[in-house]
Amino acid sequence: MKLLVILLFSGLITGCRGNSSHSLPPKLLLVSFDGFRADYLQNYEFPHLQNFIKEGVLVEHVKNVFITKTFPNHYSIVTGLYEESHGIVANSMYDVITKKHFSDLDDKDPFWWNEAVPIWVTNQLQENRSSAAAMWPGTDVPIHNTTPSYFMNYSSSVSFEERLNNITTWLINSNPPVTFATLYWEEPDASGHKYGPEDKENMYRVLKEIDDLIGELVHKLKVLGLWENLNVIITSDHGMTQCSKDRLINLDRCIDNSSYALIDLTPVAAVLPKINTTEVYNKLKVCSPHMNVYLKEDIPARFHYQHNNRIQPIILVADEGWTIVLNKSLPKLGDHGYDNSLSSMHPFLAAHGPAFHKGYKHNTINSVDIYPMMCHILGLKPHPNNGTFGHTKCLLVDQWCINLPEAVGIVIGALLVLTTLTGLIIIMQNRLSVPRPFSRLQLQEDDDDPLIE
Ligand SMILES: *[C@@H]1O[C@H](CO)[C@@H](O)[C@H](O)[C@H]1NC(C)=O
Ligand SMILES: *[C@@H]1O[C@H](CO)[C@@H](O)[C@H](O)[C@H]1NC(C)=O
Ligand SMILES: *[C@@H]1O[C@H](CO)[C@@H](O)[C@H](O)[C@H]1NC(C)=O
Ligand SMILES: *[C@@H]1O[C@H](CO)[C@@H](O)[C@H](O)[C@H]1NC(C)=O
Ligand SMILES: *[C@@H]1O[C@H](CO)[C@@H](O)[C@H](O)[C@H]1NC(C)=O
Ligand SMILES: *[C@@H]1O[C@H](CO)[C@@H](O)[C@H](O)[C@H]1NC(C)=O
Ligand SMILES: *[C@@H]1O[C@H](CO)[C@@H](O)[C@H](O)[C@H]1NC(C)=O
Ligand SMILES: *[C@@H]1O[C@H](CO)[C@@H](O)[C@H](O)[C@H]1NC(C)=O
Ligand SMILES: [Zn+2]
Repeated sequence: MKLLVILLFSGLITGCRGNSSHSLPPKLLLVSFDGFRADYLQNYEFPHLQNFIKEGVLVEHVKNVFITKTFPNHYSIVTGLYEESHGIVANSMYDVITKKHFSDLDDKDPFWWNEAVPIWVTNQLQENRSSAAAMWPGTDVPIHNTTPSYFMNYSSSVSFEERLNNITTWLINSNPPVTFATLYWEEPDASGHKYGPEDKENMYRVLKEIDDLIGELVHKLKVLGLWENLNVIITSDHGMTQCSKDRLINLDRCIDNSSYALIDLTPVAAVLPKINTTEVYNKLKVCSPHMNVYLKEDIPARFHYQHNNRIQPIILVADEGWTIVLNKSLPKLGDHGYDNSLSSMHPFLAAHGPAFHKGYKHNTINSVDIYPMMCHILGLKPHPNNGTFGHTKCLLVDQWCINLPEAVGIVIGALLVLTTLTGLIIIMQNRLSVPRPFSRLQLQEDDDDPLIE
């Protein structure tokens, strides 16, 4: 019965939306606040963000991809692919075949990005649609010869206000209309590194600033009349954990630095041995009880981090809160990049707009599930990806879903009703069979039946 009602209702809603969407194509703004650890939401106050969630949806934990670094995770969000499949496997990379280097300061060669097709490119290949970006890793690179129609070259010195002003101007004024847009902000990542997430006082101040920026964002969208029709996703790439000078792994104490090249250092080191891989592996293997050392072919399957030339022959994965160094002191009080099953590495996701339910909370999705959801909202055919659209159905008004607790409830309810009914029937039968005066007679009649036939 309930299901029927839901079905009818969602049918009605889709009907109405179908009608109005002739004039207004669905639009989506994807926002990332870098390094927004999921449990900041529980441990600090976010009045503006909570208002946003109250009228929208919240996913409390987003399981991101390994390694839990900025460039790889931002590219997974917009492609739905694990790092081994989209090719941005770290913030610092080296390709042995072409001998090219990649770093967050030298990232403009499309070679690195072309193993995947990000959603802003797909969106732009549709007739009458364009994409815009107020930064996001990759948006200032001509991936498959295409940049967003409107974008900014990456620069950390451009204020949030300028990014917001320009992206909203593009959302309003462009022809063909901008239907997919991104907005990126460096905090709270920068402060998380500097102070460490356990510095409550400084993190309180920084996170209050973030909340005020979200307040500005919502206010601006309302003033410009974008609020009701624009879908907005606010999410992040990874979390943050506390590091300490008492938790250092010094590679120089274990191995001569001339026997290998370090492509990336911490908390996941990418090691390219110069001559003898086995020798380097054996030395690193016994270097510290606080890191795992893997030959490329032995990297655990759950990381989905193996099948790409840009993944080096040996990787070292530090335990949570440990820092790999080269005979140096602690570089940062907070860091990320660790095992993606650690909840400290997870970001959250909140969303608001005509595509989303209002006031719905969901426990978890994977970051690769965001891509098929965004394609669905924009009416785009997704490229092959590692996400599951079904995981996000409960967030969307035009889908119906039963979440697990509800399903269990329904099954238990149904069982209860059934057992009660069966019980009642048995009791009734017993009560009826005892005093019924003609039961014997009836039995006899039954016995006669075969004879009649
Ligand atoms: C649906 O379209 C018709 C004809 O264009 C219009 O009159 C009506 O108001 C629309 N309904 C909604 C809910 O948008
Ligand atoms: C694209 O826009 C033009 C001009 O507004 C319109 O004539 C055309 O039908 C549109 N095409 C699609 C596929 O919406
Ligand atoms: C980005 O930088 C390049 C090279 O400096 C320049 O040619 C281009 O015009 C810039 N693009 C934008 C949108 O600012
Ligand atoms: C934002 O838009 C203003 C006005 O068009 C322009 O002058 C400025 O260069 C833009 N900012 C960036 C970072 O592109
Ligand atoms: C190796 O260590 C020596 C001594 O600390 C240092 O001078 C040199 O720069 C290091 N080489 C590399 C490649 O890091
Ligand atoms: C590499 O080092 C291992 C262990 O020291 C040794 O057994 C092996 O022979 C070496 N291989 C080569 C090709 O030198
Ligand atoms: C590492 O530091 C120690 C003490 O500070 C020093 O004796 C040693 O030579 C250094 N090793 C390298 C490879 O830099
Ligand atoms: C992820 O998706 C890509 C593209 O469909 C596929 O090639 C790859 O095998 C998938 N990875 C996993 C672990 O399923
Ligand atoms: Zn980041």
